[in-house]
Amino acid sequence: MAGSVRLLYRFGARIRSIDRDGDRITLQADDLKPLTFVAPTAVHADAVMALHGKGATLAELTNIAGSETAAAYVVDRFARARFLEWSVTDDRDVLAEVASLAGDYLPRAVPPPGERLALCRLACLRRHDGQAILDSGAVRARATLSRAGIAALADSLAERQAVTGDAFAAALWQLGFFDLVEPQESDARRTWQFADLMLHEASRFNRDQPLGATYRFKGGMAPPPAIKPTPPGERIELPPVDVAEFAATSRPLDAVQARRRSIKHYAARPISLGQMSAFLWRVGRTTGHRGAGDDTVISRPYPSGGSLNELELYLAVRRCEGLVPAVYHYDSHVHVLTRLARSTAAAGRIIERSAQAMALPAEAQRPDLTIVISSRLPRVAWKYDAVAYRLSLLNVGVVFELMYLVATDMGLAPCANGSGNSRPLQEVLDGDPFEEAAIGEFCLALPASR
Ligand SMILES: Cc1cc2nc3c(=O)[nH]c(=O)nc-3n(C[C@H](O)[C@H](O)[C@H](O)COP(=O)(O)O)c2cc1C
Repeated sequence: MAGSVRLLYRFGARIRSIDRDGDRITLQADDLKPLTFVAPTAVHADAVMALHGKGATLAELTNIAGSETAAAYVVDRFARARFLEWSVTDDRDVLAEVASLAGDYLPRAVPPPGERLALCRLACLRRHDGQAILDSGAVRARATLSRAGIAALADSLAERQAVTGDAFAAALWQLGFFDLVEPQESDARRTWQFADLMLHEASRFNRDQPLGATYRFKGGMAPPPAIKPTPPGERIELPPVDVAEFAATSRPLDAVQARRRSIKHYAARPISLGQMSAFLWRVGRTTGHRGAGDDTVISRPYPSGGSLNELELYLAVRRCEGLVPAVYHYDSHVHVLTRLARSTAAAGRIIERSAQAMALPAEAQRPDLTIVISSRLPRVAWKYDAVAYRLSLLNVGVVFELMYLVATDMGLAPCANGSGNSRPLQEVLDGDPFEEAAIGEFCLALPASR
């Protein structure tokens, strides 16, 4: 790094021109009609003009505007409209260009409090649109690093605890990407992990970024099929269901809700294939298709974001009258199971993982089976930008509740699992792990008699 590091405030590339006539200023933004306003005083207008071109530091803007309040007035006004960007420079190079992702972003106006600094635990360096960027769930802005900026960052990171004299680290602290080595966090903030905050921020309208049904792959990539091709393996017809019997024996929703419990003590008798057939039919069968091609939507007994129904159900069976221990795919379209080859050990691992999730003692009976819920995430991501994983998890929650209610109505022992391992299913599917991934587990058996 050469010489002094400066954090410059300036109009972003979006502002094509700026004209001044006395205190009257006209901004021309790329995407807006010309914006004309009268600055409160001539020095306010001077400060606005200083934001043009390379920009000015906050101290320079304060000098120009005559007071911190006047400089803050100018900065706040344009930051809120997302007209401002920031540059970190040294005497030779631009080290980083910083664009805000929301109108509520502003760098800290004050320098760091003289303590050692380090990369914020909520920030990361990654590649985006072919460039090296600093990103953080805690910062509604993104810093694009130049080659010199990457070298400067490497220096700041290599100083395991960048010293106060590191002016680049200080600028990154003002921008929010660096933190004190001992972060001053509220207890609530300490509970948020990097991935939690990044997913939260990136999958809400918290940042002015594309989000929702943008169909960003349309024209460039075929959408994944609405119906998952049946995996190879032995086909097992599920016993026919008696819909009239469901209608006759099902209790009112209110009564089912009142009885619903997570049950982890199991009967000696195994669950039967007939019961699993009824359960899968009531929870997961496909009831209809609409549309064609890109826009094929599917209906099932539970609702699903965009009616895409990207979730697939698998049974990891320890015991079930009529099935050998293995992992089975449930074909919701024809109500048929397919036994996945060489999957007995994987079924055992899935069930043991469930037993751990449910804190079952070593000697306790295991559930008869774990229903693994997988997401064909590309089907959601093909249509929805930024929210695909969020939608799939929300869909799993919806399925969990329906599983609880149907299991309760049928007198079964249900329990959702909050933690699971995607790998056993991935290994038996032996496909591209990005095509489909296990994201939820739910245990079933008959309950121990009370
Ligand atoms: C999303 C979700 C995850 C859960 N994960 C687990 C789990 O991993 N282990 C477990 O024993 N129970 C799990 N449960 C069950 C809860 O512990 C249970 O619902 C809660 O204690 C309330 O009891 P109840 O279901 O009998 O009303 C989970 C429930 C939900 C909805």
